[in-house]
Amino acid sequence: MNHASHALRLRAGTFLTVARLLAGLQAVVALTVSLAAGCASAAQEVSPREQIPFNADWRFTKGDPADVGDKLSYTNIKPWVITTGGEFSSHVAPIPPSGQLGADVAYTQSEFDDTGWRRLNLPHDWGIEGPFKQEYPGETGKLPWWGVGWYRKHFNIPASDLGRQLYLDVDGAMSYGVVWLNGQFVGGWPYGCASWRVDLTPHIKFGAENVLAFRLDNPPDSSRWYPGGGIYRNVWLVKTSPVHVSQWGSYVTTPVVRKESATVAVRVTVENCSRSVSDVTVRSEIYSLDAKGGKGHRPVASTRRLSMEISAGLDGLFAAAGIVRDPRLWSLHEPNLYVAVTTVEQSGKVVDRYETRFGIRTIKFDAEHGFFLNGELTEIKGVCLHHDLGALGAAFNSRAQERQLELVREMGCNAIRTSHNPPAPELLDLCDRMGFVVMVEAFDAWRMAKRTNDYSVLFDDWHEKDLRALVRRDRNHPSVILWSLGNEVYEQREGTNAPLAARLAEIAHQEDATRPVNMALHVVAASTNGFQNVVDVFGYNYTPFGYAAFRTDNPHQPLVGSETASCVSSRGEYFFPVSTNRREGRFDFQATSYDYAAPAWAMAPDIEFKGQDENPFVAGEFVWTGLDYLGEPTPYDRDTTNMPRFTDPILRAKAEQELKETGKISVPSRSSYFGILDLCGFRKDRFYIYQARWRPDLPMAHILPHWNWPERADQTMLVHVYTTTAISALKIITNRVAQVTPVHVYTSGDEAELFLNGKSLGRKKKEQFQYRLCWDDVIYQPGELKVVAYKNGKPWATDVRKTAGPAAKIKMAADRNRIRADGTDLSFITVTVTDKHGRLVPRS
Ligand code: GAL
Repeated sequence: MNHASHALRLRAGTFLTVARLLAGLQAVVALTVSLAAGCASAAQEVSPREQIPFNADWRFTKGDPADVGDKLSYTNIKPWVITTGGEFSSHVAPIPPSGQLGADVAYTQSEFDDTGWRRLNLPHDWGIEGPFKQEYPGETGKLPWWGVGWYRKHFNIPASDLGRQLYLDVDGAMSYGVVWLNGQFVGGWPYGCASWRVDLTPHIKFGAENVLAFRLDNPPDSSRWYPGGGIYRNVWLVKTSPVHVSQWGSYVTTPVVRKESATVAVRVTVENCSRSVSDVTVRSEIYSLDAKGGKGHRPVASTRRLSMEISAGLDGLFAAAGIVRDPRLWSLHEPNLYVAVTTVEQSGKVVDRYETRFGIRTIKFDAEHGFFLNGELTEIKGVCLHHDLGALGAAFNSRAQERQLELVREMGCNAIRTSHNPPAPELLDLCDRMGFVVMVEAFDAWRMAKRTNDYSVLFDDWHEKDLRALVRRDRNHPSVILWSLGNEVYEQREGTNAPLAARLAEIAHQEDATRPVNMALHVVAASTNGFQNVVDVFGYNYTPFGYAAFRTDNPHQPLVGSETASCVSSRGEYFFPVSTNRREGRFDFQATSYDYAAPAWAMAPDIEFKGQDENPFVAGEFVWTGLDYLGEPTPYDRDTTNMPRFTDPILRAKAEQELKETGKISVPSRSSYFGILDLCGFRKDRFYIYQARWRPDLPMAHILPHWNWPERADQTMLVHVYTTTAISALKIITNRVAQVTPVHVYTSGDEAELFLNGKSLGRKKKEQFQYRLCWDDVIYQPGELKVVAYKNGKPWATDVRKTAGPAAKIKMAADRNRIRADGTDLSFITVTVTDKHGRLVPRS
């Protein structure tokens, strides 16, 4: 390892308020009324909305009080918890059982003395605090994220707030969150990736101290990767008037977009939590936003005032549409944004002001060409991302997330898939602002489990609420282009499950009719068994060989590579002799960076590229994955060191024996090898094969491997090599001088010449469907390896590898040397070990 990364966290200051704005605009249309859920209020009072960051100063402990037993297990408390979120369900809200949930649990009670608990600020992930343990399964990241955790917060509410509504908004808590206020149960939400709200109003003490108790119960064996544990996203205290825009209650669409004007439709749901009929007027103004999110001085459009009476406890829907002249479209290169500012008046007094950011753009998928943004054919150059932030774990940090996006954008990436769950809301704000399109995914499992305690446990009771909440939360983001109903759900195998998929599609469409739904499907049968008729866009995982057949079977259906490649590599590791067999590797817990290695279902990037190029109707791809993530260290994903690979008992015994001899019985691997960038965000070689393809106009060339092997007398090393059917011990020569050492070049050029110590090793041209240039018989000599790439016969780019001398210096570079003093901003420091000439020493 020649690099290390550290995120420097500034001392607390004021907490950054991440703008999460909402709201509406002009003209008339329809009014409907529906039952409002969760209102409980006292006297009316005119007051503007406040969204207060609520992350500071929590107290935390692991585990339940000793006498709790399984009293608070989900099975026992479900009848209470499922009463939360009624506004996201089409069913009649269940009535909670009588009695006070948790009244006999000390931690829920206001007077409980929590001074001994640890003080911390959110977002917090208790898993990343470790310790790492070798014996934990690889998919866990070898970090203890499961178990019970309690958070408590003491806070004052002024007497002047009497009459207001108070809500706790949770962007994400992993998982099975349950909240008590002053000893009273106020609600809960089990899915750890969902955003949710509980109404605190009925139990708030005005002009006094209040105590929140927040319990999480993260089940083991509930995730195929590292999910983190704790209140790992932001939380907010929201104060409104009794009459206010409901949660995610504004929905802005742009049904007509032309060069000279755009029609912007706004639907605003206003909730009347007061005790009397209210005379409500709603009006919205639209402002353009500058690149820093600043509002223009004057609105560019505004709506007519719409009025209606809303009965106590009911919602009113105000639908309006207006015209924006000369709209500045949202695009990948110019991500222009607008904000609709909705003002709600009650009997002539302003009682709410609500902001909704949105963009004006059109999207379309078609079967023949792929994806169109604003009428322009746009190849999806996407990556899948899990939600952890490497060494920072799952605790959300806006800058760390932004840095990930900056890194993949440099490669030409223009699309993100939030695999396999709803993201932090700020990820979508960043994508809106930076110009990425996003496939937002809801679930990794439906009813059929992939892990004993995964979403399958919740599916029947929660899928509707979770899906509606997700779409309602995210449907104003111009970056969002697809709702993915699920990843590789097992139900896809049987056409008899297609109606279930259809129901999910219906829910998504009811919440947002402007975007297509898709699924990430890996079973070829799903392209003909009925699932293909349910989705608007078909997503194939790892099936480039099936694209042509898909088109024959489904001539009119758009297709995207929803998950591709899954090539594995360790940065800076190269195995010899180089094998193009993807299933070959070594038992040394590394994967070669020649970018051929991949598990059985997966493949090198080149193979997917060919599939896409031979079938240009495919809208593009989402590579698995942009960055390495915690957990799922395939191919070293089992603590029996790949023993499941060996079905033959004799081979298996041999493997076990050999591993014993090398002293490595259990696998230390705890993060993925799939990333194009590693856990720190350092580029692996693969970065450049994607850059070469995705940024064809950028002159670039990249040589691999490094050119640094010791010039010592012959030395050998015993390695254990596996293939699909065999395992063998192999003696390899570690001194590569005079050894065949293949050189590969990734370039956006079409031709290149390679030189070793000034001597040409030949000029090569890319053939059709060839994505790398290979000099496979180079004999290693230390010195300088240089490539000169050409495009259309003209010099285009060069790259050089020089053998470095012994490590002599440490270089440190900050990605940003000015950061905000807000307690959340980060500077990432890259530490490089170099020789005395400042050349990176690859194996230091
Ligand atoms: C896919 C799956 C991903 C990840 C990947 C690894 O089948 O959807 O979550 O496990 O394999 O290659």
